[in-house]
Amino acid sequence: MGPIAIFDSGYGGLTVLDKIRKHLPDYDYIYLGDNARTPYGNRSFEVVYEYTKQAVLKLFEMGSPLVILACNTASAKALRTIQQNDLPLIDLEKRVLGVIRPSVEKVKSVTSKNKIGVLGTIGTIQSDSYPLEIKKLFPNVEVFQEACPMWVPLVENNEFDSEGADYFIKKNIDNLFAKDSNIDSVILGCTHYPLLIEKIRKYIPLGVNIIEQGQVVAESLKDYLQRHPEIEEKCLKNGVTHFFTTESVNKFKQAAGVFLNQKIKVEHITL
Ligand code: DGL
Repeated sequence: MGPIAIFDSGYGGLTVLDKIRKHLPDYDYIYLGDNARTPYGNRSFEVVYEYTKQAVLKLFEMGSPLVILACNTASAKALRTIQQNDLPLIDLEKRVLGVIRPSVEKVKSVTSKNKIGVLGTIGTIQSDSYPLEIKKLFPNVEVFQEACPMWVPLVENNEFDSEGADYFIKKNIDNLFAKDSNIDSVILGCTHYPLLIEKIRKYIPLGVNIIEQGQVVAESLKDYLQRHPEIEEKCLKNGVTHFFTTESVNKFKQAAGVFLNQKIKVEHITL
């Protein structure tokens, strides 16, 4: 038995962990942030796949039966290959899940005009993962995308409340709605974006639904564990979380405070 692992390239996945812990407080969790190599958003397919695979192997080694890639870039570029090619060779009993599929499944219940917007990193948008997944499940839904390369750096540099943040958030949202003013729902396809939610709400046209991943992934994980008792029974339940980072422990502690609003104990790890 072992903890459920939440992996992100950096801090963003903490927004997902936060919601998962609120939804499923009894389980044990390990959070791993590859802060030394973040951001993944602009990196090639090969590099994101290699880094993500290293993290997954480490989390399996640490005893986790189930790894959630709480990073859109890793989910877009590495998840499928890990699930299809690597898992059968590593351990058939372990599982790796991502954040894109649960967000896409939410689409049908929120859209009325069948026009969806997606905001994400360059990597996620260029991978076309969202349009491809949405087309598979809901062929009538049109998808419009906008890459927001400045949003993650704004969060990582604690600038999410600044005028600079207003400038870039307005610019990207205006660009998205210039593609189609009838978009009725927008997926925040990056785990950092919930930290920008107040400004995002300010610039997104009134009445447009915003799909935030933390809540969606938490609900989907709960459902997954109910449907897969063979995995659920391998998950430890003491309600504790351990945090690991590939960067400086002090830096992580400080930033995690912003994301989680609590003091935490962090350990350094090498991948
Ligand atoms: N966590 C990543 C995501 O959700 C954003 C940060 C990065 O580029 O590594 O896409």
